[in-house]
Amino acid sequence: MNVDSITESALADTARAGNERALDEVRVRYLGKRGELTALLKSLGAMPAEERPAAGARINVAKREVQAAVDGRRKVLAREQMQEALAAEAVDVTLPGRQRRRGGLHPVTHALRRIEDIFAAAGYAVVDGPEMEDEYHNFEALNIPAHHPARAMHDTLYLDNGLLLRTHTSPVQVRTMEAQGPPVKVICPGRVYRKDDVDATHSPMFHQVEGLVVDEGVSFADLKGTVIDFTRHFFEQPLGVRFRPSYFPFTEPSAEVDMECVHCRGEGCRVCGFTGWIEVLGCGMVHPNVLAMSGIDPERYTGFAFGFGADRLASLLFEVDDLRLFFDNELAFLEQFA
Ligand code: FA5
Ligand code: MG
Repeated sequence: MNVDSITESALADTARAGNERALDEVRVRYLGKRGELTALLKSLGAMPAEERPAAGARINVAKREVQAAVDGRRKVLAREQMQEALAAEAVDVTLPGRQRRRGGLHPVTHALRRIEDIFAAAGYAVVDGPEMEDEYHNFEALNIPAHHPARAMHDTLYLDNGLLLRTHTSPVQVRTMEAQGPPVKVICPGRVYRKDDVDATHSPMFHQVEGLVVDEGVSFADLKGTVIDFTRHFFEQPLGVRFRPSYFPFTEPSAEVDMECVHCRGEGCRVCGFTGWIEVLGCGMVHPNVLAMSGIDPERYTGFAFGFGADRLASLLFEVDDLRLFFDNELAFLEQFA
């Protein structure tokens, strides 16, 4: 009888089985219905009666031994499989996470928000107007008729649809007065466009903040106080302010306001064209014609208006010596303000 050799090879096959399926094949081969050890049991009938009990006992011991080996191997395989799965799915929690890159506000946006905050605190409403404007609102209603020489001061970009890109935010004054009667107290921040030659203080697209106050008894002294107050809040440092008589068809009298150049502290440098001053604003008392054209009685009401250059205010605030830096989209530059 070859119980021993069958048991030996069954144990060897069990130990070699590399996975559950191979192990099951080993089990079927030796212990299954037609398995080798099962066949041995069936062959007992052919033996002499007196040898049967001892032989049967030996075969049963062998079967139990092989079954135990298969069960043990199954546990080992299960544990190995588990370990492999854990290793494959392992997450290294000590790795740094992927950073989400954060954007920031553009320096001109910072300046615009600062301007809005200061005027909002003083009771101004913030209004909006179209960047594609018509001749009437950009010029005529501002006392600049078709052949007025002042039109040459604005190098206007005309569009194919008969409109133009507004050259200043002053048309929003007109739109505001058309929409509401006095008292008016608004600012209008927005983009404007001119065919200007580009240099350290001129860009073909820039930002203005228009202001308009109309009521009974509004005077030039109110305008001056408003502008000086604003510059104090905006710069939070003592910078010289200068009012210069000027001319705009839509205001009378008119002035332009210069700030002391932050780059040279008034000494004169390349940025300020060696004057020590940078023009930041045009302003004046709203011309009676402009009030009347927009339906406001100039006998009863007076008003002042101003238009800041927001990019220039930003360049002074952040001490940036060239406006073009604001529009070059250099991340290394812009990230300094985020
Ligand atoms: C005007 O545009 C008038 N509408 C301002 C005004 C409003 C006067 C209300 C009276 C009443 P001016 O062209 O000077 O004025 O422009 C106003 C400001 O915009 C300037 O002081 C300057 O700070 C800024 N600015 C003008 N041109 C440019 C440019 N090309 N690039 C950047 N800023 C500019
Ligand atoms: Mg000017």
